[in-house]
Amino acid sequence: MKLTSLLTISAAAVASVSAFAIDLNGQVPFADLGEEIPGGSHIQHCSNPRTDKVEIKRVCLEPYPPVPGGVLHFEAEGIIKERIEEGAYIRVDVIYNKYIRLIRNQKFDFCENVKKAEADVECPIEEGPLNITKDVELPKEIPPGTFIVTAYLHKKDDSLITCLHTVVSFKR
Ligand SMILES: *[C@@H]1O[C@H](CO)[C@@H](O)[C@H](O)[C@H]1NC(C)=O
Repeated sequence: MKLTSLLTISAAAVASVSAFAIDLNGQVPFADLGEEIPGGSHIQHCSNPRTDKVEIKRVCLEPYPPVPGGVLHFEAEGIIKERIEEGAYIRVDVIYNKYIRLIRNQKFDFCENVKKAEADVECPIEEGPLNITKDVELPKEIPPGTFIVTAYLHKKDDSLITCLHTVVSFKR
């Protein structure tokens, strides 16, 4: 099952989409999840957008919800407020069907994954507006069910660039 690669992709997508990070000193409890990001992708902030080092204006996922075995078209529009350099990393939590913790606080190198995603973005990512467009082929082995994904993007010095959270359900 290519679930791990899917999750890496979605984590990289969530974060690179973003390339967006927070600067909270702790984590916001889920009850305090922030506003949904415009664009219909059902991605929420779990950091304070005002102190984030990226501003995510819009994230679109087509189709929504994504279809296993199909192509997911991903579009994000944002503004990088602070240069993102080598050493930046993503921490990911994934919960499957409410109780199964598939991934707990796993670290991924951000720049490496951005490169692998071949979305025409490379580190260092300079300050300024940034749009990312990418078609991703989803493995057809993705099991039906609900995935709760939380991704924290950090700078090398551990400060938070942004935190994004989403709940996505795959149907059979
Ligand atoms: C990003 O996309 C928006 C909406 O399509 C567009 O208005 C804007 O000019 C684009 N920005 C860049 C940096 O390409």
